[in-house]
Amino acid sequence: MSEPIASHAEGIEIEDIGSNPNPARPIGEVIAARYGRRALLGAGAAAAALAASGTAGAQPQAPQRPAHSSGNTPDGGPSTLTFPELRHQLAQGDAVAEGYEIQLLIRWGDPILADAPEFDVARQTAAAQARQFGYNCDYLDFFPLPRGSRSADHGLLWSNHEYTNTNLMFPGLGAGRAARSRTNAEQVAVEIAAHGGSIVEVRRGSDGRWRYVRESRFNRRITGETPMRISGPAAGHPRLRTKADPTGTRVLGMLNNCAGGRTPWGTVLTAEENINLYFGGEAAANGPQRDHYRRYGILREAVYGWGRFVDRFDLDKEPNEPNRFGWIVEIDPYDPESVPVKRTALGRFKHECCTMALCPDGRVAFYSGDDERFEYIYKFVTARPWNSDDQAANRDLLDEGTLYVGRFDDDGTAVWLPLVHGHGPLTEANGFHSQADVVIEARRAADLLGATPMDRPEDVEANPVTGRVYAMLTNNSRRTAQQARGANPRANNIHGHVLEIIPPMVQGRPDHAATEMRWELFLVAGAPGFDAGARYHRATSANGWLSCPDNCTFDSKGRIWIATDGSPETSGVADGLYAADTTGRGRALTRLFYQAPTGAEVCGPCFTPDERTIFLAIQHPGEEPGSTFERPLTRWPDFREGVPPRPSVIAIVKKDGGVIGT
Ligand code: FEO
Ligand code: CA
Ligand code: CA
Ligand code: CA
Repeated sequence: MSEPIASHAEGIEIEDIGSNPNPARPIGEVIAARYGRRALLGAGAAAAALAASGTAGAQPQAPQRPAHSSGNTPDGGPSTLTFPELRHQLAQGDAVAEGYEIQLLIRWGDPILADAPEFDVARQTAAAQARQFGYNCDYLDFFPLPRGSRSADHGLLWSNHEYTNTNLMFPGLGAGRAARSRTNAEQVAVEIAAHGGSIVEVRRGSDGRWRYVRESRFNRRITGETPMRISGPAAGHPRLRTKADPTGTRVLGMLNNCAGGRTPWGTVLTAEENINLYFGGEAAANGPQRDHYRRYGILREAVYGWGRFVDRFDLDKEPNEPNRFGWIVEIDPYDPESVPVKRTALGRFKHECCTMALCPDGRVAFYSGDDERFEYIYKFVTARPWNSDDQAANRDLLDEGTLYVGRFDDDGTAVWLPLVHGHGPLTEANGFHSQADVVIEARRAADLLGATPMDRPEDVEANPVTGRVYAMLTNNSRRTAQQARGANPRANNIHGHVLEIIPPMVQGRPDHAATEMRWELFLVAGAPGFDAGARYHRATSANGWLSCPDNCTFDSKGRIWIATDGSPETSGVADGLYAADTTGRGRALTRLFYQAPTGAEVCGPCFTPDERTIFLAIQHPGEEPGSTFERPLTRWPDFREGVPPRPSVIAIVKKDGGVIGT
């Protein structure tokens, strides 16, 4: 019980570092009594449906937990969403609204490349893992086959593999974070191979079921060791050079790829997030880059003990290696031979995502959150329009443009401040000798510009119908009453909120290149009537409220689908997928559509072009304090003794074959 939970969760540990040094931000309390609230809210509610559902099979034993079950609003009131709302639960299995079906598509360890061995948890090797689906799937995207088509039943599925739950992957390591200090060299190699991303050909059969195509020529694994190119203003800079790469332009692998995005020219953008977890050494305390390391949360002792076996993760051997992580990586999913490119013009921070929005003049804006307490929201605008007729002309479009950081004033104005060398405080006098310094130290540059510290920006994504941009501010338990105002209105904000950023219209189209916008609060999460400040549509049901918004997507009607991460700790309810109208009489009336197995967050919501399928990444099932390989809190989705929980991608379809949500 004493272990802090991992990831966002472990996020909590990471953010405890408090890397934004602004003295106005005091050290606060960690989320109080993680399970106390569950008991509180559960009291009086009907008994939990602990029985697994959805993809579940036989049940292992687990402690009984209360759950919510009252106040169902099957008709949705003024909402345009017609599915019967699911009831809040916290269970070993997952569940979806009535009339829908969950299909298990691919799991951690499933073989995808030619000659890949079947998953065998007792005989894991790095060589096998590098040919199998990786761990902790996060961002998903669907690229139709053939390329350029609108095919909705055949395509390539991209999945990030963010990080590893060491304690749930290998036997005998115990619970929680400490397991990571007990790994051997081969286990570390497996973990490195389990990071990165996967490209898998997927197809919906005539029976309506989704399956992945084993050994497709498109299938690809990208790992923590895949060779990549570095481009943009920081490429070749001395701060990116290492013994293995004296040019500063080649790097092995990508790490902690959380959410992402895509380009209009059909490449995937994958975002390196908590890169501080992997690096450590005395240099963090005494080295010449110690202040810089600290601003990015890098400490003497790495959370992952990889530096014990792999020199480049040891700061005292390779002090610049961390500068080669924390970037947006561009990958062509259709070309398995293509070299991934780290695009440094988009800045270096804990990128949650990188989502596109077209500007009226053909340039492309990309929004990104820096997911840590009191960090910022950024956008990048390309210097040139994209070319829809000549894909090759877009090849290096992401190397030139302007990176901005958001300031959200209390009067409802949003101002985008350019991170451009030589402008304002970003000068030699402040240690910025070139644009390379600005992008490598984007956080410090943003500090100097007076950006607004936010409540952990996760996904930031434009609504394709209205052009309004939605920022998932997942939580921030350290915001004090004095700091609670404007766009971050709540102290001790353990449930988070959703900010709506409104670009000006130019000839009827949203101008995402504009440097001045407006903002509003879309919703303030938590239980209405129970959690101070919670704010939704007044008809939101006892099952429709949410906690800790993380990823989002939109359907073609402009309705928002919000996936959560962290809800069990803050509300006693499993993480889920909620949907709401963004306009009209049902605006901000969130309704529960899917709920994950215990310990898992829901990531990467992704519709097929016909919206008859939504893919979800179910990440870190069973990740809770005390959960171990031997005694996990769930064995979803296999539910086989001896097999730990397996992060997996699911496809949800409507049983009658219809469009999701209608
Ligand atoms: Fe990896 Fe910010 O979630
Ligand atoms: Ca999160
Ligand atoms: Ca995650
Ligand atoms: Ca996330």
